[in-house]
Amino acid sequence: MSILVTGGAGYIGSHTCLELISAGYEIVVIDNLCNSKLESLKRVSELAKKDFKFYNGDLLDEKTVEKVFFENNIDAVIHFAGLKAVNESITIPLQYYHNNITGTLILCQIMQKYNVKNVIFSSSANVYGIPKNAPVTEESPLKPTNPYGRTKLIIEGILSDLYISDHNWSISLLRYFNPIGAHESGKIGEDPNTNPNNLMPYINQVAIGKREKVNVFGKDYNTHDGTGIRDYIHVVDLAKGHLKALERVLQTTGIDVFNLGTGVGYSVIDLIKSYENITSQKIPYIFTERRAGDIDRCYADVTKAKEILGWQATKNLSDMCYDSWNWQKNNHNGYTE
Ligand code: NAD
Ligand code: UD1
Repeated sequence: MSILVTGGAGYIGSHTCLELISAGYEIVVIDNLCNSKLESLKRVSELAKKDFKFYNGDLLDEKTVEKVFFENNIDAVIHFAGLKAVNESITIPLQYYHNNITGTLILCQIMQKYNVKNVIFSSSANVYGIPKNAPVTEESPLKPTNPYGRTKLIIEGILSDLYISDHNWSISLLRYFNPIGAHESGKIGEDPNTNPNNLMPYINQVAIGKREKVNVFGKDYNTHDGTGIRDYIHVVDLAKGHLKALERVLQTTGIDVFNLGTGVGYSVIDLIKSYENITSQKIPYIFTERRAGDIDRCYADVTKAKEILGWQATKNLSDMCYDSWNWQKNNHNGYTE
């Protein structure tokens, strides 16, 4: 069984590649390395003790995508490739729409041509925008508030239309909450190419002394300690969720959407304290203004993934903090020597 992983060199992609190989799948990866490094795939290969084919290519380049399908017997696609920084998407929206949407259109056109109709797509909790209630179910209103989230919602729509046009497609739309953590080996993890915007990569940089303190955005949210609550999920749990979704798309046809989170929300201070406890690193922080667009709380209702995919997260906040730190302390500069 051969699985094409687009964006496989990235953070979630690399962890998923490792789980796929460990479960006995053959994999083929395409990535243009615009937000990742080849070293991540080398390490996947070392950890898995297995080589696999890698195409250094762009989904926007139809010829390369076609070559991948021509040269391999692909059974299903896990589609991670995309640009993902919310703030950047507000500054360069056209690049986000073009890369994420056109890339997906080209991929789907070639899949159709080669009669490969099984696909798992990386969507995001971002499609819910500012949720009225938590936990957020898959039925909650979809109102993304930035170009990044809109690319995700548009792609969900494109894939739904594809299924309506041809019921042989089998599609899983996975809405991730807040992935953090790293593989327990400390060999692969999150290595943002730019300054980190998200909380955990920032905490990691404070822990290794690259930054002085964490700026905690706001202390007057309507939560137990005034700081924002999110549903952090260990990236290895998330990767395993893709294997469950893959089993399903390979066995059935249809289109389904699943929240992938833990179902439990933690505040910024909860996360910092848990990190300090498990790693024995002091994480200095100060309170600053709220970040524009941030919300009080967002966490998933994960009932559907549990009931239909038979999947649920198993790792707790301490595991996530420990593995994040373990990756960072072993790789001060990420994948760059
Ligand atoms: P990432 O940036 O680490 O990985 C994405 C990969 O896609 C990168 O390796 C990048 O080089 C590649 N890529 C981008 N555009 C490409 C193109 N046109 N052709 C070929 N390769 C291309 O991101 P990630 O955190 O691993 O996220 C994976 C997916 O999950 C993304 O689609 C992202 O939007 C989605 N997602 C991520 C999060 C998160 O917090 N990390 C949350 C929700 C959804
Ligand atoms: C952000 C994105 C969201 C994306 C998610 C995962 C925004 C507005 N939203 O969400 O679309 O799906 O990342 O990639 O960018 N915080 C601090 N200090 C920091 C960084 C964050 O206090 O330096 C706080 C935030 O206010 C929030 C929490 O930490 O309460 C988590 O922030 P972050 O990791 O950026 O994730 P989200 O805001 O959930």
